[in-house]
Amino acid sequence: MSKFYLTTPIYYVNAAPHIGHTYTTIAADAVRRHQTMIGNHAVLTTGTDEHGQKIERAAKATGKSPQEFTDLISGEFRQQWETLGLRIDRFQRTTNPAHHKAVQDLYKRCKENGYIYKGTYTGQYCVFDELYVTDAKPGDKCPDCGRPTETVTEENLYFKLSAFTDRLVAHITENERFLQPETRRNEVLAFLKQGLNDLSISRTTIKWGIPVPDEPNHVFYVWFDALTTYMSAVEGEGLWPADLHLIGKEIVRFHAIYWPAFLWAAGLPLPKRIFAHGWLLFENDKMSKSRGNIVRATPIHEVMGTDALRYFLLREIHFGQDGSFSFDALVGRYNSDLANGLGNLASRTLSMIRQYREGTIPGSAGDAAIAGATRETMAAVRGGYEDLAFSRALESIWALLGLVDKFIVERAPWKLAKDPALAATLDETLYTAAEVLRIVTALLAPVLPESAAKIWAQLGCSMLLDQVRLDELAWGELPAGQRIGEPAAVFPRIEVKPAVEKMRELEEKETARQKALVGQTEAASSEKRPEPVPPIGIDDFTKVDLRVGVVKSAERVKGADKLLHLHVDIGEAEPRSIVAGIALAYDPAALAGRKVVIVANLEPRKLRGITSQGMIVAASLEGGKPVLTGFLEDVPVGARLK
Ligand code: MSP
Repeated sequence: MSKFYLTTPIYYVNAAPHIGHTYTTIAADAVRRHQTMIGNHAVLTTGTDEHGQKIERAAKATGKSPQEFTDLISGEFRQQWETLGLRIDRFQRTTNPAHHKAVQDLYKRCKENGYIYKGTYTGQYCVFDELYVTDAKPGDKCPDCGRPTETVTEENLYFKLSAFTDRLVAHITENERFLQPETRRNEVLAFLKQGLNDLSISRTTIKWGIPVPDEPNHVFYVWFDALTTYMSAVEGEGLWPADLHLIGKEIVRFHAIYWPAFLWAAGLPLPKRIFAHGWLLFENDKMSKSRGNIVRATPIHEVMGTDALRYFLLREIHFGQDGSFSFDALVGRYNSDLANGLGNLASRTLSMIRQYREGTIPGSAGDAAIAGATRETMAAVRGGYEDLAFSRALESIWALLGLVDKFIVERAPWKLAKDPALAATLDETLYTAAEVLRIVTALLAPVLPESAAKIWAQLGCSMLLDQVRLDELAWGELPAGQRIGEPAAVFPRIEVKPAVEKMRELEEKETARQKALVGQTEAASSEKRPEPVPPIGIDDFTKVDLRVGVVKSAERVKGADKLLHLHVDIGEAEPRSIVAGIALAYDPAALAGRKVVIVANLEPRKLRGITSQGMIVAASLEGGKPVLTGFLEDVPVGARLK
C-alpha cells in the first residue's frame, strides 16, 4: 500500500468558513476518497492559520485573548468539516506547540545551511493599525484608517530566496506535474524570470506569533509559519513529502516559490504536486464581506444535502478555472443530473427488478456493447480523478448513464415482460442496467459518498462501498440471485423557489449567529472607518480631472508584489504610463481591454523607477484588495467624469 498525503491550505481565522473554503476542502475530500479506493493509504491535512497582527487585533476587539479567539474560530472550521462529513485526518493549528517546534526546527536548518541573515526593513507604518503599509512613501496615509503613516525601520531576519531562482525555474520546467494547471505554471515562470528578492521572515512589531530561536522580540512572519503546517501535521509519520497540495490560485506564489525554497534550504524533500484551482464567484461577482454576498455551506447542507453541493462544485466548474455559484444553478443541476439522471435510472432499474424478477438480480452476462462502454468509462473516470479533472470524470459517467437510458427505452422491458419467450432478453436488459448502476455508484463514491452508499445498499450489495477497490471493480461481478434492498428516492426533485428561499433564510440566520459569535469585532472594526474628510466646494472637485481610459497593456513591476505597470489610453496621442497597486487583486493578462477611471491631472511621480502619469481609481476594501471602478453602460475612452 502506498501512502498518499494531501493538504488544503490552512485557513485564516479572521473569518468563519464559507463556501470558498468548502470548495477546496470538498475537492480534497474527493481526492482522498478516490485515493483510498485505488488502494492507497490516504491522509488529508487541513487546519487553521492563526497568527499575526490582524488576528491579535480582532481578538482584542472582542475582549478575548488571541488564544481564546482563535480557539473559537478554529472550532468553527473543524465543526464545519464534521457537519459536511468530510474526512479530515489531521487538523493542524498554527498555535499548536508541536507546530511551533517544527517551524523553529525548519528555521534552524535553513540557518545552519547559511540561508538566513539579519537585515533592516524600512517601511511606512500605521501606528493605529499596527501594520506596515506596503508600497507607501513618507507622508502617505494608511489606506485602512486614513491616518498618516510613520517611517519605521526595524530589524528583520531575511531568507535568501534570491539564491533559488534558477533552481526553481529548472524544477518547475522539468517537472510538469509539480505545478498545475499550466496557466499557473506559466505565471510563476514569468514571475521568476524577473529574479527574486530575498524575503523578510520575521517581525519585531508583532507579538502574536512563533518566537524565532535566539532572537528575542522576533516572531515568524506569515508564510514561514503557515507553510510548515503541512509538515508539522504529520511529523514523524513518514508521510512527507506531500503528494499533493491543493490551493486556490491566489496563493500559488507562496507554494510554488517560497515553500520549495524553504525546503531546499533545509535539505528536505519537496512536495510532489501543487494544484491551484480557480476562484469561486457568487453570481459572477467576487464574494466578500463588504459586498454581503458570502455564501456558506451549512444552509445548502441542510436543505439539499452535502452531496448536492459536492456534485455542483465538482461538475459545474472546471477544476483550475474560475467558476460561478448561484442557488438557482445549484438546484437546476441537482434536478437535471441527480434527480432526473442518476436518481431516475436507479429507481427505474430497481423497480423493474422488483416488478419483473421479484427483487432478485437475474443471471446474464449483460449487453456486450454497454459492457464495453462501461469499461471505457471506468478508465476515463480514473484518469479524470487522477488529473483532478472532476468535471471531465463526471461528464463521462453521465454520458454512460445517457447510453443506458437509451438502451432501456429501446429494449422496452415493459414489452419484453409480456412475452415469456423473451425472458432471456429481459434478464439481459435488467442485468445490464443494474450492473452499470453498481459500477457507476462505485465510481461516484468519491464525489457523492452519501448518496452512492444509499444506491449501493438498495442494489443489495453487502460489501461496504468504502472497501471497494477500483482495481477489483469489473463488469459482470454483480451476482445473479442477489436480493435488492428497499428502494427509496435518493434524489427527490426539489422545487427551486421554496428551496432557494429556505437557503437564503438559513443563510441569514447563519450570518447572525456568526456575528453574535464575533459580535464585538464588528463594533470595533467600525472604529477603523476612514476619518471623515472635510467638505470641499465644487470648485475644488472640478480641479480633479477624472477620465475614462482603456488598459492597453499591463505587467508586473519587478520586485514589487503589489504593483502593476499599465499603459492606459485616455484618448490622447500616447497612452499614459501608470503604476498602480493592484497586482494582488488583478492578473495583468486579464486587464487588457478593460475600461478604467483615472485621475488624469495628478502630478507625475516616480514609483520603482517608473514614471506614473496618473492614478487609477479603485475602491479600497477591508482586507486590502482594491476593486477597480467600472461602468455598466459602454462609455467612450477619454470621457470626463463630473
Ligand atoms: N492562511 C492562508 C493560507 C496558508 S496555506 C499554508 C490563506 N487562508 S485563507 O483563509 O484566505 O484561505 C485561502 C484559501 O481558501 C484559498 O487558497 C482557497 O483554497 C480557499 N478559498 C477561499 N475563498 C475562495 C473562493 N472564493 N474561491 C475559491 N477558493 C477560495 O490564504
